[in-house]
Amino acid sequence: MAYTAQLKELVKIVEKTRPSRVGVDHPRMTPEERQEVLERFHPDFIDEGFRRIRVGVDKGSRLPQQMADIFESRSRLDGVELDLSKSDYEVDVLVIGGGGAGAAAALEAHGGGASVMIATKLRFGDANTMMAQGGIQAAVKANDRPDIHYLDIMGGGRFENIPELVRAAVLDAPQVIAWLEKLGAMFDKDEQGNMLAIHGGGTSRKRMHAARDYTGAEIMRTLRDEAYNREIKVVEFCPAVELLLDAKGRAAGAVLFNLETEEYLIARAKTVIIATGGSGRLHFQDFPTSNHYGATADGLILGYRAGAKTIYADSVQYHPTGGAYPPQLLGLLVTEKTRGLGATPLNVKGEQFVFHLETRDVESSAIIRECQERKLGVPLPTGVPAVWLDSPLIEIIHGEGTIERQLPAMLRQFARFDVDIRKDPMLIYPTLHYQNGGLLIDEHARSTVENLYVAGEAAGGIHGRNRLMGNSLLDILVFGRRAGRDAAAASREVTPGPVSLEHVQSYQRELEEAGITGDRVSPLLLPHYTHR
Ligand code: FUM
Repeated sequence: MAYTAQLKELVKIVEKTRPSRVGVDHPRMTPEERQEVLERFHPDFIDEGFRRIRVGVDKGSRLPQQMADIFESRSRLDGVELDLSKSDYEVDVLVIGGGGAGAAAALEAHGGGASVMIATKLRFGDANTMMAQGGIQAAVKANDRPDIHYLDIMGGGRFENIPELVRAAVLDAPQVIAWLEKLGAMFDKDEQGNMLAIHGGGTSRKRMHAARDYTGAEIMRTLRDEAYNREIKVVEFCPAVELLLDAKGRAAGAVLFNLETEEYLIARAKTVIIATGGSGRLHFQDFPTSNHYGATADGLILGYRAGAKTIYADSVQYHPTGGAYPPQLLGLLVTEKTRGLGATPLNVKGEQFVFHLETRDVESSAIIRECQERKLGVPLPTGVPAVWLDSPLIEIIHGEGTIERQLPAMLRQFARFDVDIRKDPMLIYPTLHYQNGGLLIDEHARSTVENLYVAGEAAGGIHGRNRLMGNSLLDILVFGRRAGRDAAAASREVTPGPVSLEHVQSYQRELEEAGITGDRVSPLLLPHYTHR
């Protein structure tokens, strides 16, 4: 669906203001202006979107409504008879989730001498990692250092990050890049073989390393190939529906549900790693999402029922540039690399209203303000709010052919609907992108439940209340690898014993005592609108 005649008229306004905008940076906001726009327009500050959870270890804490629903649901195993003395699988380390964090964890656990199995809800690699576009941060350039990277992460996270986790992320980052390259990942380089790097929102150095605009796919391809090469066992279409605990309350495996045969399977393990990703498909506050269909907060509720504490579960990231039009692209990611290369957000008058590389929380809030309060959004036939993202600027700044070279996936994605982003600006609006919080971990990726590890988006605390671009591909690998190593070592100390689901029954009792009844079950596994 190409732009309508009315939109084409509005594009002419953008073209008219373009020459006056080339090479001119919009002023950045002051800290006070940032705080004000956040408090007035960021969805995390809209109280109706949240409620207090009535059960579990974090009873009383604030959660997005849809996440609280998941936490206040019955177990899928409620009423199911299971023989817990049997076992379908027995391994040292069970990894739940087959995205980047799970794959990295499995590789390192395997390298540590453990027997490992990945149980994944969909196919191995069918996860948000595969869809990550813009890049991965690591301080590998001469003008950069891990401590500068550290300060950027802390500032982006509004200084609410757990310092030890940030320290681990930035110190491991250069090794992560080296590890990926050794495994065969191909990053963009100049003719001398130096890594190319650009800015992301909130970075003080050019630190975003990419494989074009399909960085996640390149990383996932590399990790999955390596797991297959090492013949690591992978069980697909078998999501975990509850954790198993031993008599001491330590994680000791999981009940899996085979989506094809509808059988329950018992996987016993000495240590367990949750790497199930985030919750973007819960569509908080009715936002569209850039997320994979599998992002339904499964690991969060599994861990929570087993007694694992959460942190900042009420903090959600809305990526400033989700697709707004054509309607087929609603909510899909328009990579921040587009802004990193110089594309700027504009209102209907062709005016830039915010510096294009503010942190995501601030940039999104400014876009929402432009549409809601100032009423200067671009009117769309679909009625959804939108502003322009002036992508043709990229070709002016960096030369013709840059978009085809650096943003080939984005170019194709819009070309399918007859929009040439080299010539016409894109239409964007914030989309639900990332769960900043999650299950609480320490720097070894250990949760508050013994022998239970968490890595990737299911974990919280690393990014405070707002993640910077490229630090998610980093954190899945840093904490995936740390989880794998520690879990393998810890598994050597465990003597397996009987397992139980007593924690699930006691959670159910707590729900009933709180007067929470009904048929809602979790983990959700797939969004409610998915055909089953
Ligand atoms: O905009 C992007 O390419 C997204 C990257 C990220 O979330 O790290």
